[in-house]
Amino acid sequence: MIVYLNGRFCPADEARISLLDGGYLFGDGVFETLRLYAGRPFDLEGHLARMASQLEALEYSWRPDIRELGDILDTLVTRNEWNGMDVRCRITVSRGYDGGELLPLLDHGNITPTISMVAQPLGDRLVRWQKDGIAVEPLPFAYVRGNFPHLKTLNYLPTAMALRYAARHGCDEALFIDGQGRILEAATSNVFMVREGSLWTPPLDLGLLPGRTRSMVLAGAERSGLQIHELPFTLDELCRADEVFLSGSVKEIVPVRTIGGVDVAKGEPGPVTRILQKEYRRGVRDALGG
Ligand SMILES: Cc1ncc(COP(=O)(O)O)c(C=O)c1O
Repeated sequence: MIVYLNGRFCPADEARISLLDGGYLFGDGVFETLRLYAGRPFDLEGHLARMASQLEALEYSWRPDIRELGDILDTLVTRNEWNGMDVRCRITVSRGYDGGELLPLLDHGNITPTISMVAQPLGDRLVRWQKDGIAVEPLPFAYVRGNFPHLKTLNYLPTAMALRYAARHGCDEALFIDGQGRILEAATSNVFMVREGSLWTPPLDLGLLPGRTRSMVLAGAERSGLQIHELPFTLDELCRADEVFLSGSVKEIVPVRTIGGVDVAKGEPGPVTRILQKEYRRGVRDALGG
């Protein structure tokens, strides 16, 4: 597999970053994961806008350039011979190291960040998930996503722990719940429920990632005439919903079949989820022109 690192393309096992990179030492960096449809990136602009605002929050002076990163993405696809395929791509920016301070905690505007891009074609599992739904496991409180839940920083340890916890319980995703019992999000997705025909999702001010897909699902729901509530709800309310689904840039919209081993409604994806899945795909087609 060919990857991109700091201006060059090379086989993944030849790509090297410094042991003193602030990303490696402190998790000082951010990343974006997006999906390519038939080799073409969807919502690159939205992902890079989110990345730019997060870099600002982390006091980086570097900003992504859409034309430059779009060209890198195209080359990555071509060099890997993935043209025409659906691909998951991760763009990572980390603090880097300039040969100065041993532990690069402060930037002072002169450290060149490390920029990398890796990608992989999607497997069949996702198609099954979207069709049949997945099992999710609620997490104990201690697994909440840290002090910066609105950022996609390189410290994804809570996510990794959550997904391991879910896997130990035979599940594919995990639910983060805050100290007051309110649903926040899933380990790598935003959460939605359908109750009496209206759509509910936790509000961003509870402390969760402002998912790109979340905002598109809400736009699609509005176009479909659904009533929308961005309001808190509990695990108990989620378990009693008519439908539950998750959203994410690669997974799009994935129905939830069971929560903590208990069926959601009849344990089958519901009609509103299906409408929103189609609406999302329509948005992708419109954006990519075909
Ligand atoms: C914690 C968390 N929430 C939500 C999402 C979904 O975000 P997006 O729709 O931008 O992919 C992700 C994606 O990785 C995530 O890690």
